[in-house]
Amino acid sequence: MKGIVLAGGSGTRLHPTTRVTSKQLLPVFDKPMVYYPISTLMAAGIRDVLVISAPDALRALRALLGDGARLGMRFAYAEQRRPRGIAEALLIGEEHIAGRSSALVLGDNLFHGPGFPDLLRGAAASVDGCVLFGSKVADPERYGVGEVDPSGRLVSIEEKPELPKSDYAVTGLYLYDADAVEIARGLRPSARGELEITDVNRAYLDRGKARLVTLDSDVMWIDAGTEESLLEASGYAAAFAREHGRRIACLEEVALRMGFIDAEACYGLGVEMKDSPYGRYVMDAARHWNGTQQR
Ligand code: TTP
Repeated sequence: MKGIVLAGGSGTRLHPTTRVTSKQLLPVFDKPMVYYPISTLMAAGIRDVLVISAPDALRALRALLGDGARLGMRFAYAEQRRPRGIAEALLIGEEHIAGRSSALVLGDNLFHGPGFPDLLRGAAASVDGCVLFGSKVADPERYGVGEVDPSGRLVSIEEKPELPKSDYAVTGLYLYDADAVEIARGLRPSARGELEITDVNRAYLDRGKARLVTLDSDVMWIDAGTEESLLEASGYAAAFAREHGRRIACLEEVALRMGFIDAEACYGLGVEMKDSPYGRYVMDAARHWNGTQQR
């Protein structure tokens, strides 16, 4: 399965901060925001990732992440000149996807929870149609809302409904089979001129091939696109580190646990950042690695 991180957009809800910098490069506690969605893909076992962003931000993302080899990953980069909709990622990524299944994650979506990596790997193992992930929210009318039947099959998706049929917001992580590119190619821009990801998901729904996996209440999902949620995300990551002694979305540690790199390589990456608590954490993770801990 191929991965795509969509990290462009306008970030208008975070102006003035995002007038000269990309939202996905802003810090969430100890690391840039984009580390979180990348760690989500890595935890699903995905090693081939296309990062899509606006031209200026792409230069910075490339400088930050490189070609991924040091993490046992392959990162490639592609431009989205203007934010023409989330579904455009499937067209920009067509060559990268190369007729395979794909996982598309939004660059400002953070997922974390004890059972989440296993749930994700299970869902990614065989994708027939599309798999969406639903998170229970208090204010579903602000989101795309998915309604499921008792077997977990998706029955409807509604964008920002006045009377939501469920409390499950459709999150920014989408697993697709190989048909997604062809579906995206047939889309018409919406009234706001964008290729809407909901329209891709609806096409799968119409074919009876859309699933919504509902996330347990102990799986945290944050769309970090507003000042409150950005702060909440940092608070969550900091509190988790304080309470559990573990840093979430530490790419070097995830690569080690996934078997993408060995402890020596991980240690070396930590040494390069040894002046920061994050770097020392990477060194510690490598030092204490015995190859048997759970991922
Ligand atoms: P949004 O948060 O909906 O949009 P935005 O990032 O432009 O922010 P704002 O509403 O404050 O102006 O986008 C969700 C994610 O998808 C975010 O990570 C940006 C990304 N995105 C793109 O990369 N390209 C696009 O064309 C769109 C619509 C979103």
